Amino acid sequence: MLLNIFNCSPRGERSNTRALARPFVEGFMAGGGEAREYPAADPAVFDAAVEAFGTPSVAMIAFPLYADAMPAAAKAFIEEIWRLRGSCESTRMLFLVHSGFPEETHTRVMKDYLERLAARMGSPCDGVIRVGGGEAARHANSRKPGRTYMRLWELGRLYAERVVLDAAILAKLAGPRRLPWPARLLAPMIVNRLVWDRELRRNGAFDRRRDRPLEAGERP
Ligand SMILES: Cc1cc2nc3c(=O)[nH]c(=O)nc-3n(C[C@H](O)[C@H](O)[C@H](O)COP(=O)(O)O)c2cc1C
Repeated sequence: MLLNIFNCSPRGERSNTRALARPFVEGFMAGGGEAREYPAADPAVFDAAVEAFGTPSVAMIAFPLYADAMPAAAKAFIEEIWRLRGSCESTRMLFLVHSGFPEETHTRVMKDYLERLAARMGSPCDGVIRVGGGEAARHANSRKPGRTYMRLWELGRLYAERVVLDAAILAKLAGPRRLPWPARLLAPMIVNRLVWDRELRRNGAFDRRRDRPLEAGERP
């Protein structure tokens, strides 16, 4: 079975999307499958990716949530394959969607959208893999695979064997519905301090973080 992965993150090679798709692919290959990767956000690859989508295969469209929606490259890819609707019965669709936030509520609407998309395309859909809190995936140490890596690997292996996504693994990857309240309280403070404040300082913008340039009277 051939698996084509369409990575629609604008970060391409350096994306968390790629880092999350990789263990699934490795598991899939360990289960006897074959895989090809298309960085579909790269304009030089875009047409070849669309063509590959139309060939008999499993097509995994993978992307992160950007502003609660999909990146432009994912939208462009979906709009292009939409032209092939009704003619891709031998393309099985799969999706990998991940979010920076850990709760599964963030990716739920996208899951509904993608399942409906596959139905309208007339292609069989084997499901939507959702990964909550995938922000640091590309920094993970591949020599010491973590829980998410192992789950994705096993999901890929089982998929190669059964052509079904394991429901229990899917639920674990998607993340909790809500974080417990201490984490909800502390997480923004820690993330602000360790990530966003540092980023503001690095760009010399920390002292201006409360500016409201679009409000009347504050325009330069
Ligand atoms: C412009 C932008 C908007 C984002 N919006 C969201 C969001 O609405 N919800 C969320 O959970 N994560 C959001 N994130 C976090 C990304 O989903 C997260 O960084 C992801 O790992 C990026 O994947 P990539 O490296 O494959 O592009 C956003 C990130 C960026 C850069």
